[in-house]
Amino acid sequence: MPRYTSPRRTASDARGTSSFYPDDSGRWEGTGTSVRVVVGAQFGDEAKGKITDFLAADARYVVRTGGGPNAGHSIHLPEGTVVLHQLACGVLRHGVVGISGPGMVLQPMKLEAELQDLEKRGLLRGQVVLSDRAHVLLPVHEIEDAWQDEMRAGKAPGASLGTTKSGIGPAYADRSGRFGIRMGDLARPARVKEALEILYATKTHLPNLPAKDDLAGELAEVGSRLAPLIQSTEPMLWDAIGRGENILLEGAQSALLDVDFGTYPFVTSSHPTSAGALVGSGIPPTEVDEVIGVSKAYSTRVGAGPFPTEDTGESGEYLRRVGGERGATTGRPRRCGWLDLVLLRYAARLNGFTSLAVTKVDVLGGLEEVPVCTHYQMPDGSTVRDVLPSDADDLLRAQPMYDRLPGWPAFHQRLKDRVRAEGASALPSTLRRYLDRITEETGVPVQYVGYGADRSETVALGFPSGPARRASLTPWTG
Ligand code: IMP
Repeated sequence: MPRYTSPRRTASDARGTSSFYPDDSGRWEGTGTSVRVVVGAQFGDEAKGKITDFLAADARYVVRTGGGPNAGHSIHLPEGTVVLHQLACGVLRHGVVGISGPGMVLQPMKLEAELQDLEKRGLLRGQVVLSDRAHVLLPVHEIEDAWQDEMRAGKAPGASLGTTKSGIGPAYADRSGRFGIRMGDLARPARVKEALEILYATKTHLPNLPAKDDLAGELAEVGSRLAPLIQSTEPMLWDAIGRGENILLEGAQSALLDVDFGTYPFVTSSHPTSAGALVGSGIPPTEVDEVIGVSKAYSTRVGAGPFPTEDTGESGEYLRRVGGERGATTGRPRRCGWLDLVLLRYAARLNGFTSLAVTKVDVLGGLEEVPVCTHYQMPDGSTVRDVLPSDADDLLRAQPMYDRLPGWPAFHQRLKDRVRAEGASALPSTLRRYLDRITEETGVPVQYVGYGADRSETVALGFPSGPARRASLTPWTG
């Protein structure tokens, strides 16, 4: 199998080591130092947890780089399903350090409950580290989040963002406003008390806030229990790079929910892009070897905001039912539709994907045809192929144009067993053509395919034989 050669020198080339390129059977061709970034390429819920967990098998460190309890990374283990909200998926593997990184906003009481649950189930196998720079998300922020979204809805129809109500926006706002409390502060109760005094003065409009002293006491208690886990994480990672150990940066949410580059204001409040993963971990860009974008074989979105390929009819219902499309954190039904190549190209350019992981191909198995959106027709007659209009209203007016590709057989157990045993060569040829089309359209090779929920149901592909292009260097014309 010809090996894909990257058109750019990677940081590991410079160090004289190789990265991990799998051959067609899913075996790795080489080993060496690697910093890999995994980010969502759509609107979230692309099964990033599953892909990160798969890649964590040969990582020493896995770092969650942004977001907080709004995320729900589901991992299906033989012992049962785990949904990680604030912990990195590395905590599920022996010998791996799972870091909740500096870019996160952590709700300490919920975090402790998450840890206790994993411990009770005997699934806490890696080492847990919490960044001392991560900000503390307070119950006050949860109240404020709900208040803000209700206030928006009351002021203008359609203005509600449909947030997860977990306090993300207010916690990041207080971080930027320099009102925040950081995880490292929890060891200093007097400092926390003083910070709460100031913070509460900015929140006098909010109803039913917990009493300041009660909250300070609760934070002191939980802080003392979590203290052994709270550390400075940047030097740990820099030293690991120096020793040649593998690091995986686990993004939460997704490119199209980025506060700057997503469908503003229908976005989250962090930067779930590859650039955000660096800021959220303290790793410099020159150390990154691979950026892996995760996309479903179709599209979903939860919460409000434009979604050009949304299907509100039978097809959408089919995808929701067969794909089990309900929010892992909120239980809300997800909006569903076909794959949007315009948004995928945009995400590829924005993040500099070096490869893609395409998940849930089994959900589309058995369909005669699978539509994919190749471009948008705009009301002024123009064509959009690879940019996200910066005004969400323009995206609402975009008319998605589809190509219909041949479908592939249903993923019965026999087919799954064959893929597990033989690797990617056992994937149906029409599915391979679908994946090749994604590569042709985005300029990014598909490297991993998820064909079921189980941890074992991911297969690595060899790269296509044609010269792969980096999306960000590929001119796309309408
Ligand atoms: P927030 O992050 O809770 O403020 O929510 C802002 C928007 O991002 C809402 O539309 C949420 O539904 C969406 N969102 C936040 N986190 C996730 C996630 O992990 N998966 C999918 N959507 C998310």
